[in-house]
Amino acid sequence: MTNKHAAVAPRDRLIVALDLPDVRIAEAMITQLDEAVTFYKIGYQLAFAGGLPLARALAGSGKKVFVDLKMHDIGNTVARGVESIVSIGATFLTVHAFPQTMKAAAEASKGSDLTILGVTVLTSYDDADLSAAGYAMNVSDLVARRARQARDIGIGGLVCSAEEASALRDVIAPSMCLVTPGIRPAGSSSDDQKRIMTPRAAIAAGADYLVVGRPVVASPDPRAAAEAIVAQIAQATRQ
Ligand code: C5P
Repeated sequence: MTNKHAAVAPRDRLIVALDLPDVRIAEAMITQLDEAVTFYKIGYQLAFAGGLPLARALAGSGKKVFVDLKMHDIGNTVARGVESIVSIGATFLTVHAFPQTMKAAAEASKGSDLTILGVTVLTSYDDADLSAAGYAMNVSDLVARRARQARDIGIGGLVCSAEEASALRDVIAPSMCLVTPGIRPAGSSSDDQKRIMTPRAAIAAGADYLVVGRPVVASPDPRAAAEAIVAQIAQATRQ
C-alpha cells in the first residue's frame, strides 16, 4: 500500500491552528485567510468556547477540520465521542495512543471520512516525566512502541515532531499520515516551541501535514504568512 497522502496539494498540507479565544475572532481570521487556507485545527481553547459548531460550519463550507481534543477515556465513552465528531464532518481527530482508546476510536470511525490521529507521547514529556508517571521506558522507545500499536490497530496517522518524522516513517504503515506541529518559517520567532523546523525541512523529513499556529494567526498579515508557508511546502514537494 502506498502513502495515500503523497498526492495532496501543497496548500492542503497546511493546517492553521485556530488558537484564538472566541468564535468571533476565529471567524474574522477565517474570513481574512479566505482561500489561502483549506484546513483548520480547533483545540481545547476554541472548542470549549463554542468552537464545535464553528467546526461543523467550516466542514459544511468545504474546509477541512482537525478536532484536536486528544481523547482518552474508557472505550465506550471514546467511541460515543468519536461518533459525535464524525457527525460534525471533521477530517482529523486526535486520541492518546493507548491501545484501548485507539481500538475504540478506530472502530467508531470505520466507514466514515474521519481519520484518527494517535498522539504517541506529548512533546512536553522527557524521560524524567515518563519515569515520574510510572513508565520504565524512555521517550523514543515509547513513541516507537505506540506507533507500532497504532499501525497494527489501523489508526490513520500520528501527530509527531518533525524530528521524529523520518524515524516513524520507517515504522508506520505507508498509508498512515504524519502530522507535525512545531513549524517555524525561517527567521520567525520560536515562541515556546523547543524543537522547531522550517516547513521545507519538515516535509523533507517525511511530514504529510504541517500544523502552524502563531506564525499565521499572530502575524500582521496572516494571509501573506500562510501563502509563504504554502510556497515553502511546494518547494519541498517538488524536490
Ligand atoms: O503556535 P504554534 O505554531 O506553536 O501552534 C502549534 C499548535 O500545535 C498548537 O495548537 C499546539 O497545541 C499544537 N501542538 C504542539 N505540539 C504538540 C502537539 C500539538 O505544538 N506536540
